[in-house]
Amino acid sequence: MWKRENPDGAFRAVITRRLPGDSWKEILFDAGCSVDIWESKDAPRIEDIEEAIGTRCDAVIGQLTERWDEPMLGRLAGAGGRVYSNYAVGYNNVDTEAATRLGIVVTNTPGVLTRATAELAVALTLAAARRLIEGDSMVRSGQFKGWEPDLLLGTQLFGKVLGVVGAGRIGSAYALMMVRGFGMDLVYHGPHRKPALEAAVQKSPRDGEEVDLRAPDCRYEEHLEDLLSQSDVVSLHPPLNESSFHLIDRDRLRLMKADAVLINVSRGPVIDEAALIAHCRENPGFRSGLDVFEDEPALSPGLADLSNVVLAPHIGSASTWTRASMSILAARNVAGVLQNYPPWTGTDFGVFLVDAAPEAIPSAVNTEVISRR
Ligand code: DGY
Repeated sequence: MWKRENPDGAFRAVITRRLPGDSWKEILFDAGCSVDIWESKDAPRIEDIEEAIGTRCDAVIGQLTERWDEPMLGRLAGAGGRVYSNYAVGYNNVDTEAATRLGIVVTNTPGVLTRATAELAVALTLAAARRLIEGDSMVRSGQFKGWEPDLLLGTQLFGKVLGVVGAGRIGSAYALMMVRGFGMDLVYHGPHRKPALEAAVQKSPRDGEEVDLRAPDCRYEEHLEDLLSQSDVVSLHPPLNESSFHLIDRDRLRLMKADAVLINVSRGPVIDEAALIAHCRENPGFRSGLDVFEDEPALSPGLADLSNVVLAPHIGSASTWTRASMSILAARNVAGVLQNYPPWTGTDFGVFLVDAAPEAIPSAVNTEVISRR
C-alpha cells in the first residue's frame, strides 16, 4: 500500500520500498517533493508501481529487484519523470540506453557500500575456507562428538594466492583486507591495471614477521584463465553486463585448483550456477561462498544441498550505516536532478552524507542527459 507524505510538495516522487534511516525524507521534502512510499513488507508488483507513477511523477527511487526496462521508463517519462534513482551501486536492472533516449537521468549509490560489501566477501571467504557453516550445522544437530585431529580440515589463507576479478572500489577494498589481514599474495584481473592498488599492496606489511618478511606479491593478469589457474581464492567483483554474463562457466571452473575457494558478491549471473553445482559435486574439496544467485531469490536445483557452498541472502551492503547512507545518496540524487544541479565530479561520496552537502548530483550514470538540457 502506498503512503503519501508532504502532499503539498511541488514535485512528486515515488519510493518503491521503505528505506532505512530518516534523513533521506527530509532531503526530499527540502527539495520540494511529496513522496508516495510503498509501505507493505512484500515488494510491490510492476502494476503497483505503474499505478503509483500515474499521470504525473517527477522521480522514482527504485530497487535492484525491479526491472526498469524501456516500457517502465517510458511510463515514467510519460508522466514527466526526470530521474530514476537506483537504490544500489549496480544498475544492471536498468536499461540506461532507453533512459538516455527518454531523457531520464539514472543514478546509483556508490562509495558508501564499498567496505560493507568487501567485509561480507571476507566473511564468506573465511566461512568457506574454514568450513564454518558445516561446523555450525554439526554442533547444532548434535553431531559434534568431541575434538578430532582431522575434523573439518580447511584452507589456511596466509601466503596463499588471492585472485580478484574486477578491482574496482569493492574488489580493491576486499583485496587490501585479505592481503593486510591474512597475508595473501594478490593477482588481479580487469580491463585496466590499478597502480594505486599495486602500490598499496606492496606497502602492506605481512603479519607473523618471523615467518615471512617479504612484502606481498601483487600482479596484474591480463588473462582471466591465468588468474584462475594459480589462485587459491578467487573473488568476483565485475559489474554484470554482456561480457561478464557466465564469466565463470564449466570450462573456467575446470581451470581452477580442485581445492580453490570461489566467492561471488557481485551479481549471480556472473557464474553459470548449474556448472558450479556440477563442479562442486565432482570436487568436494572445492568451496564457494555466494551472496548472489543467478535467478534470485530462486536457487538452481541442487545448490542448497551442497555442503561445500556457503549461501547468503544478498546482504553485501546490509550494514545499518551503509543502508542509511544509500538512502541519503538516493535522495540526494533525486534532489540534485530536480534542482538542476550539475553532476558531481569528485570521488568521495561521503560529503553527501552531511547537512552541508555540495549542490551536485552525487552519482548520475548517464550524464549526457544532463548536458543535453
Ligand atoms: C548493490 O548496491 O549493487 C548491491 O548489490 C546491494 O547490496
